[in-house]
Amino acid sequence: MKVKTAQKTIKEIIADGERFLASKGNENARGEAETLIAFGLGLARVDLYLSFDKPLTESELQKLRGYFKSRVQGKPLQYITGESIFRYLKLKVNDKTFIPRPETELITELVLNIIKKGDKVLELGTGSGAIALSITKEGGVKVDATDVSKDALEMAKANGKLNEVDGVKWLESNWYENISNKYNVIVSNPPYVSLEEYNSLEKEINEYEPEIGVTDNNNGFKCLKEIISKAPEFLEDKGHLILEIGYEQQEGVDKLLKKSGFIDIRFEKDLTGKIRFAVASFEGTGASGTE
Ligand SMILES: C[S@@+](CC[C@H](N)C(=O)[O-])C[C@H]1O[C@@H](n2cnc3c(N)ncnc32)[C@H](O)[C@@H]1O
Repeated sequence: MKVKTAQKTIKEIIADGERFLASKGNENARGEAETLIAFGLGLARVDLYLSFDKPLTESELQKLRGYFKSRVQGKPLQYITGESIFRYLKLKVNDKTFIPRPETELITELVLNIIKKGDKVLELGTGSGAIALSITKEGGVKVDATDVSKDALEMAKANGKLNEVDGVKWLESNWYENISNKYNVIVSNPPYVSLEEYNSLEKEINEYEPEIGVTDNNNGFKCLKEIISKAPEFLEDKGHLILEIGYEQQEGVDKLLKKSGFIDIRFEKDLTGKIRFAVASFEGTGASGTE
């Protein structure tokens, strides 16, 4: 006779999943366990609580085991669920798209605080479209967004549709190569991780995320230098350049900005108190200011 074992309930599986992730060093074990289980069961996370006593079938359990295994092997949560939440957007992501980070929500805020009605914004290196779509949705201004990666641009376009945000012009371009307009604001979160640092990053990043989204394969300043030095050509007078940078890059970025004639340079911190953003004004092509 076959002995029927009691099937585990959602509540028990959440507890098991949390313990398992925590035992592997996951610092957000409860949250991630709930996200994976909700995703696997096709439920909203909040609905897990309404179905706590529901027993799971063997095939559901097997699917969940697969997700937990991938997670502890280092696959980012967002690549398992295929989505990432950014400000007011739900964004699709895959392994060809850089996962938007929480701190990038702050650079978006810096742009929103600077733009005025009728401004034109250029985003360089849009990835999933997180910044460009948020600025369009929340700021109501015209945004052109570029990426050198066709795959990223496809995802960004799909994210525009998914979130019903129209009006972003998506352009395949190696930084400014295919840009001919001028803008009031240029914003970018470029790959600023040096090759040396990249090689020592956790597996979750350097084995899963697209390399082109993370490192410049150089000293960390290659893309920043290109973006800063050519920005004056594409900025309207009194325009702004807003950049996300590494927390040890303030001095180098300050020098590059001054060299290209930027004034009113300020650096902003992320939520952990580290300098992560540069905001600079461009007086205009008529003004001097280069060192
Ligand atoms: C750090 S990710 C930022 C993505 C997105 N803006 C965000 O903040 O989540 C950098 C992005 O720059 C793009 N990129 C890298 N090199 C580029 C280049 N030469 N021209 C344009 N985009 C580039 C990458 O494909 C990637 O999407």
